[in-house]
Amino acid sequence: MLLKSFGAAALAAQLGAAQELMRFGCSQLSIDRIDPLVSPGSLPAPHMHQIIGGNSFNVTMTPDSHDPPTQSTCTSCTYSEDFSNYWTANVYFKARNGSYKRVPQMTNLGLKVQGGMTVYYIRGYQSAAKVTAFKPGFRMLVGDPANRDASKVPSGLCFRCESNINQSPFGGAPCTGSDTKAFPKSTCGGGWRVTVTFPSCWDGKNTDSPDHKSHISYPASGTFESGGPCPASHPVKIPQVMYEIMYDTRAFNNKAEWGTNGEQPFVWSHGDPTGYGIHGDYVFGWKGDALQKAMDSKCSGDACKALQRQDDKKAIACTKAQMAKEDIGTDTWLKELPGQGAMKS
Ligand SMILES: *[C@@H]1O[C@H](CO)[C@@H](O)[C@H](O)[C@H]1NC(C)=O
Ligand SMILES: *[C@@H]1O[C@H](CO)[C@@H](O)[C@H](O)[C@H]1NC(C)=O
Repeated sequence: MLLKSFGAAALAAQLGAAQELMRFGCSQLSIDRIDPLVSPGSLPAPHMHQIIGGNSFNVTMTPDSHDPPTQSTCTSCTYSEDFSNYWTANVYFKARNGSYKRVPQMTNLGLKVQGGMTVYYIRGYQSAAKVTAFKPGFRMLVGDPANRDASKVPSGLCFRCESNINQSPFGGAPCTGSDTKAFPKSTCGGGWRVTVTFPSCWDGKNTDSPDHKSHISYPASGTFESGGPCPASHPVKIPQVMYEIMYDTRAFNNKAEWGTNGEQPFVWSHGDPTGYGIHGDYVFGWKGDALQKAMDSKCSGDACKALQRQDDKKAIACTKAQMAKEDIGTDTWLKELPGQGAMKS
């Protein structure tokens, strides 16, 4: 059966080549209108997010005073030494009458956590090369919620319209084939697989930068996961972090409810109807040297001798109460997107 046999070979096939990569599930920690990276201190932040990882996630996570492994009492990730936080915007369906409903997330192939995301740490093609784990306080951002230009979407960020729930036939490496930078324009029988990939080179000094991006870089040649050398400005190879978010759009496949001109009806929680504002946020929070050990041990999949793994049920049980009180719009129809006011259609 496909789910059971979703092992190392399938993982490698996912990325189109043999390489070590950790792939594990993190259940939904919370759906909240806070953003400690881009809008620290703001309660509420400008838009809604869905968050996974350590439960010390908070409105403010100042690097020198907030230590996720110390301050968290649980993590929604199955690797139980990982108290990092990973988050993205939410997707909403906009009905013809202008009301919004949140598109729920679903479990990915081979995993058992609920909602949330699938997280990858990829060593890359040069398996002999040293990969340096992130330092405490490290954080980064990829993509830009304000972007509305396809050409400005970084190469490792995209949407895949799955024709069925088994993601079959397999659509090849992320962001290849018929994957798009825009929201899918047709109905998808198996929902969407959204990929968010971070750059894999670091300046070796700064754990953050004013735009949360300048301290990291793509390889000097090639783009996403090409395994190319890091540029002189950012010489340190870091794990390539990648998120896969499975959005279950299946409840919204009735075209009679789509826009009157047949236009695709989905929007990001920051009010973007194009999809090009796709972005992801990361705050490192692995305990001690666990991530370095994982890299050195070439861990793959969601279990590895070098790391501790908790039961899926424990990961699922780790949730966090919403801090900015908002109707998350899963069961109810919302008149507007939280924080975005009434959108022009
Ligand atoms: C969030 O941070 C505030 C201020 O440091 C702290 O008082 C509060 O306990 C934190 N909340 C959670 C849920 O961790
Ligand atoms: C808007 O449309 C949705 C989907 O058809 C429907 O369920 C909802 O009741 C409508 N809301 C209003 C206020 O008409």
